[in-house]
Amino acid sequence: MLIAGNWKMHCAAPPKARELAGGVAEVASEPGVQVAVCPPFTGLSAAAEALDGSPVHLGAQNMHAESEGAFTGEVPAGALRALDCRYVILGHSERRQYYGETDEAVAEKAEKALASELVPIVCVGESLSEREAGRAQEVVGRQVETALGGLSLGDPSRLVVAYEPIWAIGTGESAAPEQAQEMHAFVRETLEGQHGEAVGGAVQLLYGGSMKPHNAEALLSQPDLDGGLIGSASLEAGSFAEIVAVAEEVAA
Ligand code: 13P
Repeated sequence: MLIAGNWKMHCAAPPKARELAGGVAEVASEPGVQVAVCPPFTGLSAAAEALDGSPVHLGAQNMHAESEGAFTGEVPAGALRALDCRYVILGHSERRQYYGETDEAVAEKAEKALASELVPIVCVGESLSEREAGRAQEVVGRQVETALGGLSLGDPSRLVVAYEPIWAIGTGESAAPEQAQEMHAFVRETLEGQHGEAVGGAVQLLYGGSMKPHNAEALLSQPDLDGGLIGSASLEAGSFAEIVAVAEEVAA
């Protein structure tokens, strides 16, 4: 089980990042549950200092596929590793929607992340109109095929996939546990087809989209949910800790 906090563009200044990461560093973490926080780039160093000696891992929210070069405003994987990042979120729907990130770009980044010993948390998910048109699996299937089909993956612990239905992000209304399970089982099947049953079957699948302390148990109890990617509830150490505590109970 993995509970990861995506801070988005919050707590970006070092003092704020240090404060929130410091609160999360106190979160008890049982062996069955891994915990991570993903601050903005500008908060990574301060968060890393606050997490020093804690079992909580650090992740970034994006990276460039090249190692260096004339790419103004971009950040390479090697620099994230040097800042103690274990994870990097790739292909979040906000990046797809606002910055035109494509599945092909996500594929290049995921390959580079693996080569750089970062664990990509690759996000997929359908919009409300796609779900209402009965196209959720078609859309998510294409995202998984294009972004992950070309990866050579021998070790399932090197990859995490997050199913984040766009209609559930930031709305306060999560997917129903059965809806999430249905999509996770579909993603699982697609990964097994791509990477074989042993590897695809063991990749951690996170659910994201309004996961909160009150709905975490019902979601995390589903057989193909291996954790959560938490947005607004990760911006307060107390509510994030409550979700981690639920994960520990479910995993026990
Ligand atoms: P919320 O938990 O705020 O809905 O955000 C989910 C998300 O986008 C995590 O990446």
